[in-house]
Amino acid sequence: MTNSINTDLFKHHEYMRSTIDDCKVIDLRKIHDVRGNLTPIEGGVDVPFDIKRIYYLYDVPGGESRGAHAHKALHQLIIAANGSFTVTLDDGTNKKSFNLNRSYYGLLVVPGIWRDLNDFSSGAVLLCLASEHYDANDYIRDYQEFLDFKKSK
Ligand code: TYD
Repeated sequence: MTNSINTDLFKHHEYMRSTIDDCKVIDLRKIHDVRGNLTPIEGGVDVPFDIKRIYYLYDVPGGESRGAHAHKALHQLIIAANGSFTVTLDDGTNKKSFNLNRSYYGLLVVPGIWRDLNDFSSGAVLLCLASEHYDANDYIRDYQEFLDFKKSK
């Protein structure tokens, strides 16, 4: 019981104080082969969390945007498995955009970061490895609410 309370406090603290400098592009292993390349990703080895869920986003119509939310506890690795798109990260003070266009780059996004996804190329596939199962309560979907959380740190 005590442990779960401490963990919750840590998560709360973490997402309020995180900055875009805690996010980074990870250069994933690439096993080159004339028959085709292979990139393996192991939880706790290539990404600093255990992978509980994967999902992928595809068939995004030209000009559409996704994202526009932050998470309280979720760590994610976002990969352009095919094509390209832009991820803009925002910690309430600073913003940084990443154009992902290689299947061996992964963008690590920590909790407490607002993200906007746009500029999807035709046929783009966004692969996301996530540290937690889906939880609608982990989302902050209101930007002003997000700013208020970050400013109250
Ligand atoms: P959402 O995360 O809002 O997508 P985006 O930020 O890219 O626009 O998810 C869209 C819908 O899909 C929403 O109704 C929740 C649902 N969903 C799941 O059921 N499971 C999942 O793992 C994810 C990521 C989304």
